[in-house]
Amino acid sequence: MTFGRVLITGGGGQLASDLEALLAERAEVSARDREALDITDDAAVAAAFEESRPDVVFNCAAFHNVEVCEREEDRSFEVNARAVKRIGERCAESGAKLVHLSTNYVFDGAAAEPYPESAPPSPRSIYALSKLAGEYAALAYAPGAVVARGAGLYGLHGSASKGGNFVTRMVARAREQGELKMVADQRLSPTFTADLAEALVEAVEKDAAGVFHVTASGECSWYEFTRAIMELAGLDVPVEPVDTTRPPGGADRPLNGVLARPAADAAGLTPLRPWRDALEEYMSRAGLLAEAS
Ligand SMILES: NC(=O)c1ccc[n+]([C@@H]2O[C@H](COP(=O)([O-])OP(=O)(O)OC[C@H]3O[C@@H](n4cnc5c(N)ncnc54)[C@H](OP(=O)(O)O)[C@@H]3O)[C@@H](O)[C@H]2O)c1
Repeated sequence: MTFGRVLITGGGGQLASDLEALLAERAEVSARDREALDITDDAAVAAAFEESRPDVVFNCAAFHNVEVCEREEDRSFEVNARAVKRIGERCAESGAKLVHLSTNYVFDGAAAEPYPESAPPSPRSIYALSKLAGEYAALAYAPGAVVARGAGLYGLHGSASKGGNFVTRMVARAREQGELKMVADQRLSPTFTADLAEALVEAVEKDAAGVFHVTASGECSWYEFTRAIMELAGLDVPVEPVDTTRPPGGADRPLNGVLARPAADAAGLTPLRPWRDALEEYMSRAGLLAEAS
């Protein structure tokens, strides 16, 4: 299918900003930040659908501060699940296609191998539980919905609720502290939101439907990711590899957060480039590469 009118929720966020930029030329895009469209406000959602009459809705809004979600259960389910049900209903009524974002955290991370889309979820945090409920809401209420599970997102526009993204936080911390500690036992495929945005657009163009794993190619630990960031930034600071510890009341994070993508491949979706290539381009564009600093 092609893009006519597009509604993006969570405007101003990392992924939403890249989607907005990518689609600006080929669609009539209405990207709304939380102030303009709080997705938990059903009247506001109804008004947004009426005003923008979308053919495609990208629901990028989420409450995803994993530790805060653990303490704010109601808000987690309100934003990440119940609001998705209502957006899904609006999509079904109006015939809009819903593209909804989810997370590798729907798996507990105990498996030895990367998780394919068909693996049974086993969420182990309030964030993950609420995101899994949101997946079901999208699939059950919005016919033909795409649910794309991402991991370790970073983008040029930063994630305001987390005080920048992981890359900018590590660079700042290295400059301030001169040394870093990072978990070496949690693995994932960190993903540049510009690449994820392109993959989502392709999924809509190819009329894909269902659950897809959409992360960068390859995998690394957070420690290896941090080392790569330091190398590319030209920061010669020691990074100490440490094991994951979970403070009382803290969220459980998957050790194996790596996703396989047989369903995405079967749908003819193009694999994303290797995580390090994407990181290098991101850091270049963000002015964080050694040569640029
Ligand atoms: N970031 C990651 O590492 C990661 C990993 C896997 C999957 N994901 C998923 O990928 C998607 C996009 O993530 P992202 O990193 O682009 O997030 P982001 O940059 O934090 O953007 C999310 C946006 O949603 C907004 N928001 C929160 N509550 C809202 C509400 N009730 N109504 C409307 N907007 C609301 C936030 O606004 P405020 O900042 O004002 O709260 C924020 O601007 C999310 O579904 C997330 O769960 C993220």
